[in-house]
Amino acid sequence: MKELIKKLTEAYGPSGYENDVMNMIKEEIKDYVDDLKIDKMGNLVALKQGKGNDRKKIMFAAHADEIGLMVTHIEKEGFLRFTNIGGINPYNLVGARIKLQSGQKGMVSHEHLDSMKDLKLEKMYMDIGSSSEEESKKIVSLGDIAVYDQKTQFIDGRIMGKAIDDRIGCAVLIETAKQVGEVDNDIFLVFTVQEEVGLRGGRTSAYSINPDLGIAVDVTRTGDTPGAKRMDVALGKGVAIKIKDSSLITSQKVKKLIIDTAERENIKYQLEVLERGGTDAGAINLAREGIPAGCLSLPCRYVHSYSEVVALEDVENTIKLAVKVAGNSQLFQE
Ligand code: CO
Ligand code: ZN
Repeated sequence: MKELIKKLTEAYGPSGYENDVMNMIKEEIKDYVDDLKIDKMGNLVALKQGKGNDRKKIMFAAHADEIGLMVTHIEKEGFLRFTNIGGINPYNLVGARIKLQSGQKGMVSHEHLDSMKDLKLEKMYMDIGSSSEEESKKIVSLGDIAVYDQKTQFIDGRIMGKAIDDRIGCAVLIETAKQVGEVDNDIFLVFTVQEEVGLRGGRTSAYSINPDLGIAVDVTRTGDTPGAKRMDVALGKGVAIKIKDSSLITSQKVKKLIIDTAERENIKYQLEVLERGGTDAGAINLAREGIPAGCLSLPCRYVHSYSEVVALEDVENTIKLAVKVAGNSQLFQE
């Protein structure tokens, strides 16, 4: 699985440009599902057909896109100004290596500032090694995209790299397809597009699938680093079962279903209340006339930086729980 995680996290796929990632996932999952298609929005929808009589539809969602930068202006001296795709803290960009879609590499720096408090994206630029506007224009156009250029590393049971948000969720869904075996319900494994810019693929795919239950698998923040904002989620303490974030209040019956499953199967878990942030679960929850939804979260440090960190053990517990929830024959007991 390490190899799969490395491949997925190092792949190139900011919001709206997820093709390479989708093709990679298709190859990984095709032998384990009954149907596989890319919908009009670009979401990859895999179906594992249920064998039960009174089949329900469970939709799992993990987003395939990652945050990125988009070129807005080319300076006379060849430097590139840019805007963000998704939530990027300018401090996370200082000195960051980046890669354009063409493969061209570069780095990000900023104008001289009297105080780093004045650091904003509009004070920053990409340096791609070009020394004139003309030279840059041969390599790059307005609207071109860049992402962090970063290799994924494994250190003592931890994974460190870019785009762990949310390729790690994609890896969990792929492993779920491989491990779940025969199921009673129809299991939709959806790899969504454009989550980072507003849960867009999650919304459209939930509309077309119209599931009875929606479960997102995504990363969440932790409160376990020096001086961190209070948050009772920590690395290595198991899969985090979401109770609330800005996009979702987990339906009580979904919360019960997930917690009961973790308890019954002895899967290490923790509870999560995220004060700011959302996932595809929020979009699924508000699709059509409302769909019960929840989220299995992976505790992740330094979210949206080029060195996001998760614990391999938490990933394994998340897979176990996803497999057991998918394999449940009865969704909600009255
Ligand atoms: Co994110
Ligand atoms: Zn995410």
